[in-house]
Amino acid sequence: MLRIGALVSGGGTNLQAIMDAIERDNIDAGVVCVVSSKEGAYALERAAAKNIETAVMRKKDYPSQRDYDIALADYFEKRNVDLIVYAGFMLILGEDFVNRFENKMINIHPALIPSFCGKGFYGLHVHEAVLKAGVKVTGATVHFVTAECDAGPIILQKAVEVMDDDTPESLQRRVMEQAEWIIYPEAVRLFAENRLKIENGIVKRR
Ligand code: GAR
Repeated sequence: MLRIGALVSGGGTNLQAIMDAIERDNIDAGVVCVVSSKEGAYALERAAAKNIETAVMRKKDYPSQRDYDIALADYFEKRNVDLIVYAGFMLILGEDFVNRFENKMINIHPALIPSFCGKGFYGLHVHEAVLKAGVKVTGATVHFVTAECDAGPIILQKAVEVMDDDTPESLQRRVMEQAEWIIYPEAVRLFAENRLKIENGIVKRR
């Protein structure tokens, strides 16, 4: 069984979609621990409801980014995690974290990378920027995590239409329903079945 650790900061609907798909589709994987960067994140309740170990680790409780990165990496390493899913995780982790789990971390971003991504583009801000730009198509991207924010090898993408009367909230909801909750569990399945190969920074599916 693929042992999954999750990083969360908020509602955890992507975590829920992954946990549900594992059960529904018999994926040979299990979420074994969930770490939140924020106290009271609803994602923690979703995990607890499935008897999954949870922890809150806040950046401000550590003297430096490096200390935070190391503490998080130690946490997942102790639990023998094979894959780390960033599931609505709103912090950027440094090399002291990412170098220890190379090609074993995946993230969902609520836009079609390389558009509307990078520092400052997270959560509702992404959808605000999409509406401001007036693009007619947006979507979601699952990618491997590297030290550069939102720039790792792309695994799956799905496009979603932007409507004239969208608000950031309505667009966020549609992107989640029509893209994120579909492609994130699918990417976990492909990873669990060892069907993702990275060649020269490009993901090839087998
Ligand atoms: C999702 O839309 C996710 O793609 C986005 O935040 C939301 C979290 O929702 N993530 C980022 O912006 C990461 N940079 P969730 O907590 O319900 O999964």
